[in-house]
Amino acid sequence: MAYYSIQNIPLTDLAKEFGTPLYVYDADKIREKISVLRAAFEGIDLTIKYAAKANTNLSILRLMRENGVDMDVVSPQELEIGLIAGYEGSNITFTPSGVHFSEIEYAVSKGAIVNLDNLSVLEKFGQTYGSSQPCLIRIKPHVFGGGNEKIMTAHPESKFGISIHQKAEILSIVEQYNINVIGLHQHTGSDIKDGKTFEQAASALFDFAYDFKDLQIIDLGGGFKVPYSPEDPGVNMHEVGQIMSNAFRAFCQKYGRELRLWVEPGKFLVSESGTFLTETNVVKRDPVKTFVGINSGLNHLIRPMMYGSYHYIFNASNQDSSKQEDYRVTGYICETDTFSFDFNGKQNERLLNEVKEGDIIALANAGAYGFTMASHYNSRFLPAEVLVDGGKARVIRRRETLEDILKNQELS
Ligand code: LLP
Repeated sequence: MAYYSIQNIPLTDLAKEFGTPLYVYDADKIREKISVLRAAFEGIDLTIKYAAKANTNLSILRLMRENGVDMDVVSPQELEIGLIAGYEGSNITFTPSGVHFSEIEYAVSKGAIVNLDNLSVLEKFGQTYGSSQPCLIRIKPHVFGGGNEKIMTAHPESKFGISIHQKAEILSIVEQYNINVIGLHQHTGSDIKDGKTFEQAASALFDFAYDFKDLQIIDLGGGFKVPYSPEDPGVNMHEVGQIMSNAFRAFCQKYGRELRLWVEPGKFLVSESGTFLTETNVVKRDPVKTFVGINSGLNHLIRPMMYGSYHYIFNASNQDSSKQEDYRVTGYICETDTFSFDFNGKQNERLLNEVKEGDIIALANAGAYGFTMASHYNSRFLPAEVLVDGGKARVIRRRETLEDILKNQELS
């Protein structure tokens, strides 16, 4: 997994040409993942709705669009960015949670299909549109699934979706306003690899669906786990695709009509395409530990600090593994911003090929929820982004300057 180059361009060359910290994405990897996903659902009328929150760079969105992948968005801004990337409103689903109703109206006005996850919102939707606009309803199936508590979204205490136990209330509102419910949706959580969990959530949604007579779509969400290290198993997409397809076919037969299946992965499509390149500012030899201090921090890649997430880390400047050392890889932010977590969610050391100051340290799986979760904390610039496609690297987000940080401030 220590990929020292992307499409034959050494990572160290990319770091030299574009500077660090730098997010680099491999377009071929994204195309490959799209194909794997499609193949897993062969024979099913499948639409992929890319969960854009994972990575909203315009060039990534355009790549998705060019490969026939639709979009799932969670804010008016993501919607707008999708339109700028060339999407039609009708190819975009708006799946918000806890937003003001005006955002739903905005999405409808742009031609997006909305996915409603609250009874009061459903009622307002009925009062506002009657049967004139289609919608999906997001159900909370009371299923436990996800890599850690913070990314589980379908368990009983989750804020997402309308509880599966509130079917009577849903049906009564739908009937009262004659709401045009064209689809039902559920998303279990993120980092799920177990086929049984997907099956359990799907079957809960299918059981729920028979009382809705005009369905055209079942949306089973995303959450397919990606491998985070050479030893870490990702989802067996083919197996999970078969499980979900079989359950879906059986449902359609019983429902009496062929429906369309939607899935909305984020990580699965983009996580592995991304590598985050940083530079070693200091090697700090402490009596207890040796720290590798890199020119980044929780301001650029917060997943380890926020979820205890594991990112594979390697020294892109040194491929000689004959001399290795345990290092704690940390950032330059005035917080404990350790990058090297183990699989138990604990800060730990990593065995890296000997690190010298100035070496390029790379973090894998940086294509999803990396840049999109970055901030200006400590008033530092966001990283630049580069896309490698057709063997060529090009900047898809330039490096910031102080003007970017100051642009909305007024000294008054
Ligand atoms: N659909 C819905 C409704 C979602 O809320 C999400 C993610 C997805 C699809 C895509 O899930 P994915 O396929 O990417 O696992 N920041 C966290 C992940 C949060 C996911 C939020 N919702 C992380 O970096 O692990």
